[in-house]
Amino acid sequence: KARTVLLATEKAFAAAAVAKIEAVTSAAGYTLKRLENYKSKAELLAAVADADAMIIRSDKVDQAVLDAASKLKIVVRAGAGYDNVDLKACEGKGVVAMNTPGQNANAVAEMVFGMMITSARNNYDGTSGFELVNRSIAFYGFGAVARAVHKLAHGFGMKSFAYDPYIPADKIKEMGATPVDSVAGLFEHQYVSLHVPLTDETKSSINKALLQKMPKGGTLINTARCEVVHDADMIEVLKTRSDFCYLCDVAPDDKEAKDAMKAAVGDKYGKRLIFTAKKMGAQTLEANDNCGVAAASQIVGFFEKGETRFSLKA
Ligand code: 3PG
Repeated sequence: KARTVLLATEKAFAAAAVAKIEAVTSAAGYTLKRLENYKSKAELLAAVADADAMIIRSDKVDQAVLDAASKLKIVVRAGAGYDNVDLKACEGKGVVAMNTPGQNANAVAEMVFGMMITSARNNYDGTSGFELVNRSIAFYGFGAVARAVHKLAHGFGMKSFAYDPYIPADKIKEMGATPVDSVAGLFEHQYVSLHVPLTDETKSSINKALLQKMPKGGTLINTARCEVVHDADMIEVLKTRSDFCYLCDVAPDDKEAKDAMKAAVGDKYGKRLIFTAKKMGAQTLEANDNCGVAAASQIVGFFEKGETRFSLKA
């Protein structure tokens, strides 16, 4: 059956990855329609009208998008976090939603180290920094990305700790990290790296009480979602603790909060505080390939064989 797959990416994949996605869809006899680097919701609403399937990244799929997509059967988030997809609305419309867990884990993990080293070496400004060897890193959430960071941390001679409400302590131990029994316990370590999804429970949960527990040189690494951090508390901690660092893959949407964080560190921006210009963790050729091809293959598997592995529940 002729099908149209819409690739809707506000932040485009690398061209070589798009070619690989198209190879998968055309082998199945489907048409790949591309809406890349689009600027308005109206463009997305118009593009979904004839789509049987959609591949997205952090693009928002809400009731309005679903209402405009009368033929849509499946949407695949090419990536891990799916807080941008309204799963209840999908369920209401009979649209299957999936993600592609683990496919961009290594890309994010390498960037965690990129940010840690940039900060530890004072953004290469000629002053004396410090080394990561023998230092401690604690993971909040121990899924695919955290495990990939842990693997690199091991190579760097760091000590890993982890807490994940859904993974038993003995499993964490088996994977070579020391289990911690609470979120608060993680913040006794110099580095805390966030790897939890954005949910009602995690939203704004990284607050002053936790951050103030961190030892001297305490550094929060956030490649999860910036909404997990309590903005006002972060501003206060950056202001009151001149040793504290926040390394975040993308600044808060709230421009006032972003500016206040930058002002709090002054000329230490790029050392104590790092923000990427766009969410960059998954922005590598390899991760684009992995996520994009997985998404396209999951769509073909769904239509041709009824495969529903990786489908998400509201
Ligand atoms: C994810 O959840 O997979 C990452 O945050 C990547 O998001 P992106 O596809 O928008 O870069």
